[in-house]
Amino acid sequence: MKITQQILLGLLAFLVVSCCQESKTIKPGEIWPDNNGVHINAHGGGVMFYEGKYYWFGEHKIEGKAGNRAMVGVHCYSSKNLVDWKDEGIALEVVKDDPDSDIAEGCILERPKVIYNPQTQKFVMWFHLELKGKGYDAARSGVAVADQITGPYQFVKSHRPNAEHWPQNVKAVHKLPVGPDVKEHYCGGKGCLPAHPDTVNLLGRDFEIGQMARDQNLFVDDDGKAYHIYSSEENSTLHISQLSDDFLTDSGNYIRVFSGRYMEAPAMFKYSGKYFLIASDCTGWDPNAARLAWAPNIFGLWEELANPCIGEDANLTFHSQSTFILPVNGKQDAFIYMGDRWIPDNAIDGRYIWLPLQFNEKGIPYLEWMAEWSMDIFNK
Ligand code: DGJ
Repeated sequence: MKITQQILLGLLAFLVVSCCQESKTIKPGEIWPDNNGVHINAHGGGVMFYEGKYYWFGEHKIEGKAGNRAMVGVHCYSSKNLVDWKDEGIALEVVKDDPDSDIAEGCILERPKVIYNPQTQKFVMWFHLELKGKGYDAARSGVAVADQITGPYQFVKSHRPNAEHWPQNVKAVHKLPVGPDVKEHYCGGKGCLPAHPDTVNLLGRDFEIGQMARDQNLFVDDDGKAYHIYSSEENSTLHISQLSDDFLTDSGNYIRVFSGRYMEAPAMFKYSGKYFLIASDCTGWDPNAARLAWAPNIFGLWEELANPCIGEDANLTFHSQSTFILPVNGKQDAFIYMGDRWIPDNAIDGRYIWLPLQFNEKGIPYLEWMAEWSMDIFNK
């Protein structure tokens, strides 16, 4: 075959592939099979892009209500196109032969997130940890590290963040002596505090042992600094906390935000030089209306905006709860909302609600329901 014929044939093949092949689609809420045909098992997860591939880390759930506890660990999947996911196995395993381990089988291990530290060349995983048999009382953060992105991750420690550090925006009330009423254990859910959290000194109560940390996320800024965002003070208040340079602990430099708003499921991203946060209300496994906020700087001032969802079921975040905002690699201003549609009676069956984040003419992000969509949406 002559060279010109070969070039023509190549060109034809390229045209067929690029113009006539249907793009693969994401179908929010449907079963999402991995490369083995098994529904992806990575709930409350987050995605990291590394060396040409995306890696999705999330809670591995088992069948039934027991699946709401950690019986296996953190599952990892990889993908080049965000639609087809390869099972990379369990990145962090719970400990099966030591009931005294912080991450003993049967603990609660939620919302794992992984970031890479270029200085230490370690992959660092943070998660919300509740000690086995203690319900949601412990409110700790767990940290694990690995040399390879897919693991195995070695558990480093669990702790309450920011012990003996006041936030930048500490109030006078927090430094007052903590009375016996405040020392009492509050029930940890919305409405359980007898008054607004700025008058019930939970921060002061936990000053020495460290602040409560339940729903959590990580965010790495353009300057390489990493931040831990967690629901604290009996879920009433979010903390945004800078991590140490090695990303293994909190630095003590943090702020309190949205006190009394009971925000869970925080997910931060940066768009057009501004910081945005999508979160949820605090209603257990049931969906609620998403929260949206923005700030010119990560340490504020933060301003809450309206519910980012529009259309039918907007007040239920399309039956989902945020877990991560995923920047699409190589595309400017392209982000995917990742949410969980929890099924607590059969945890393994939980579904994933992924939707493209859209921006209005004022640069405010919003979400609308799409039953099926492809990455082509980011080419428009
Ligand atoms: C809502 C949180 O966002 C979830 O991660 C989980 O902790 C459930 N509450 C438990 O009820």
